[in-house]
Amino acid sequence: MPVIAVIGAQWGDEGKGKVVDLLAQKANMIVRFSGGDNAGHTVVNPHGEFKLHLIPSGIFYPHTICIIGNGVVINPAVLIDEIDQLNQCGVDTTRLFISDRANLIMPYHVLLDGLEEDLRAGKALGTTRKGVGPAFTDKAARLGIRTGDLLDKEALLERLRFVLDYKNIILTKIFGVSPLSPDEIYSQYYQYGKRLAPYIRETTIMVEEALNREEVVLLEGAQGALLDPDFGTYPYTTSSSPLAGGGCLGAGLGPTRISRILGVFKAYCTRVGAGPMPTELKDETGDLIREQAHEYGATTGRPRRCGWFDAIAARFSTRINGFTGAAITRLDILDSFAHLKICVGYKLDGKMIDYFPANVVTLEKCQPIYEELPGWQATTTHIREYEQLPPQARQYVTRLEELISCPVNLICVGPEREQAILKMPII
Ligand code: IMP
Repeated sequence: MPVIAVIGAQWGDEGKGKVVDLLAQKANMIVRFSGGDNAGHTVVNPHGEFKLHLIPSGIFYPHTICIIGNGVVINPAVLIDEIDQLNQCGVDTTRLFISDRANLIMPYHVLLDGLEEDLRAGKALGTTRKGVGPAFTDKAARLGIRTGDLLDKEALLERLRFVLDYKNIILTKIFGVSPLSPDEIYSQYYQYGKRLAPYIRETTIMVEEALNREEVVLLEGAQGALLDPDFGTYPYTTSSSPLAGGGCLGAGLGPTRISRILGVFKAYCTRVGAGPMPTELKDETGDLIREQAHEYGATTGRPRRCGWFDAIAARFSTRINGFTGAAITRLDILDSFAHLKICVGYKLDGKMIDYFPANVVTLEKCQPIYEELPGWQATTTHIREYEQLPPQARQYVTRLEELISCPVNLICVGPEREQAILKMPII
């Protein structure tokens, strides 16, 4: 039985939450493997509408085990709030487990995320200011505090004092703000630890056991490939790898275990935060997409930048992830357009290029070269069979398949769980 990685193929917000919620019907375990509460996975199902920041989108099924893997950075206050909200809506969270190796987001991470962004001024990255970047920085600097540390009172206090001595020097001497109190943070995090203790486990054993039982395990990515710190639009990226390869590291399984990699692409492009986006539409068409699709950040509420589908970026994403299939989400948003455009090349210094440049200064100079396709100007939200889609919509999907070099398995035509067209089975 397979491990299926569900990966954001663009700049995040592709609709991974909905896809995971859908696939979780047939899965036994879902492991979230990267990012933190910078993510906001929207799920609409019979329980209501939810924006999950940390808990895997499979939590709504009574049969799925949900794991927050070691690769996620966890703000315990946000997690506890999310658990409480789900419980209040009647969703059971006793099948949720948290890796004891996941790093914690501490109050100084949130503070530093804001201070560093303010210091960057005109060059700000547009982070979500949730402390995710500073927490991953500390993980690499070996200054992190992990969920497992919450379970040992004395060790937690000792570790916190050591790290906070260092952080307070940065806060006071570099940023000129007041130092943080170790005792206050300790008593707060000790309480969080007591609350989260039943969930904290060595989760790699659980994943291995599920695989030995030949169960279906989904790896739930956060953000998108073009925000990857290595392959994204660096430095305008996030701080952990959203790629399929990141799934192995962040869930604790070997690469040979992954059998399918589903890239989730929106039928057009969006981006939130700073950094280049070659197909961005700073005109009424972009505004129309934003308003029709309500493209505002699930975590920050910021308006998302909208534009046509960028097949150059998409093909790059397929290459660095090794997608075996694709999900095209929000096709219905294009229902009203008379003509659609797909970016099939970039014009750079008078020449056409067909690759995604590594350098943001170069990428900023790239002008999209478009291919135009006819729109279908018909409602698709009620359609459940691929053959029932208007011919122009099928032509659009077929062209995307050719351009991104991977077959389309799934097409989403609305936010509800059942508003989906399974073109080819995934599980
Ligand atoms: P950070 O991950 O909060 O440090 O933000 C770095 C960049 O990634 C910013 O441009 C954010 O807008 C973007 N980003 C982070 N998480 C998400 C997400 O879940 N969806 C879309 N963009 C995101």
